[in-house]
Amino acid sequence: MSKLVLVTGGAGYIGSHTLVALQEAGFDAVVIDNLCNSSEVALQRVETITGKPVRFYRGGVGDRVLLDQIFAENAICAVIHFAGLKAVGESSQKPLEYYQNNVAGSLVLLEAMRASGVKRLVFSSSATVYGSEAPVPYVETLQTGSTSNPYGTSKWMVEQVLRDAANADPELSIALLRYFNPVGAHPSGLIGEDPQGIPNNLLPYIAQVAVGKREELSVFGGDYPTPDGTCLRDYLHVVDLALGHVRALEWLADHTGAEAFNLGTGQGTSVLEIVRAFERASGESIPFQVAPRRAGDLPAFWADASRAARELGWVASLGLDEMMADTWRWQSENPHGYRAVDEEG
Ligand code: NAD
Ligand code: UFG
Repeated sequence: MSKLVLVTGGAGYIGSHTLVALQEAGFDAVVIDNLCNSSEVALQRVETITGKPVRFYRGGVGDRVLLDQIFAENAICAVIHFAGLKAVGESSQKPLEYYQNNVAGSLVLLEAMRASGVKRLVFSSSATVYGSEAPVPYVETLQTGSTSNPYGTSKWMVEQVLRDAANADPELSIALLRYFNPVGAHPSGLIGEDPQGIPNNLLPYIAQVAVGKREELSVFGGDYPTPDGTCLRDYLHVVDLALGHVRALEWLADHTGAEAFNLGTGQGTSVLEIVRAFERASGESIPFQVAPRRAGDLPAFWADASRAARELGWVASLGLDEMMADTWRWQSENPHGYRAVDEEG
């Protein structure tokens, strides 16, 4: 059996960390990425970390001709599908782009897999599929839906497509990995999250304040029904998350059907707790002010991650201090991300 995995979106934040985990676990990787939100430098850095080559095809997952070429040229045993657009706010402004990339792109990928006889797929889903009505902690048996933006809906739709595809083809084996809030970076400081423009997410924003690129953090909402009034999320280290993909690939080898797994730590942490933990790890102070709530934010959610522990043999092992220290190392050693200079102007 080949150990060659096609990684869509492999130059991105989670994809690049997963490439390292795959290669360290004895898999080889081929990447397709259109670099719409990433840099080829990330792939070079992965090669530096592991000392192994990554074969790269630049292009979109909606390009059936390119996908057919990739499957013809490589004996691929499984696909990990990260490629997609992920900015929640932007998805409401550009819904067609989100459905085209995330939903239509996944359909083309599935058709190409069917044509080439590849039966195993790991899909990047999100805790957002549980929607606004779900009780916490989120458990996989909850009904999904009630998503509140096109990004979330696109993830939910792809999950339905994959379940239907698995029902129709009993040889298909699919893991729907529902990530909670991935943060941190590889401990080498060579790869990490490199958002373009103003970061939407908490940790990249804090890291840019710490490095002097932004003046202060706006804490969105201080009057939530939580212990300190700020939202609770389940932050997990991206290196743990990457290992979850390796465990899922191993699970695919002796299961069929489409099954969902939460990947989180099972613990909620508030925005203010994150600010304090980052200050501890970096030795920098993070000026902040409490600002109005951000539209669409839920007060608190975290994972019931027991299914992944039971069935995949995966548990998050890295704590908040490692998440913060590794974010800080990446940001301070690469203040402009993968670019040599600040290109924001
Ligand atoms: P990212 O933007 O860093 O990585 C996505 C990669 O896909 C990028 O390299 C981008 O260039 C590429 N890409 C986008 N559209 C493409 C297309 N049509 N064809 C080929 N390549 C394309 O994002 P990430 O944080 O690494 O997220 C990876 C996946 O995990 C995404 O599907 C995202 O929705 C999902 N996810 C992320 C989070 C999170 O908080 N980061 C949470 C839940 C789920
Ligand atoms: N926050 C701030 N200030 C900021 C940025 C964020 O206070 O500048 C707060 C948010 O209000 C929220 C928390 O920090 O309370 C976390 O916000 P993020 O934007 O980092 O993460 P979200 O939980 O909103 O969203 C993440 C992913 C989505 C995914 C969702 C559920 O970005 O893709 O988790 O899995 F859908």
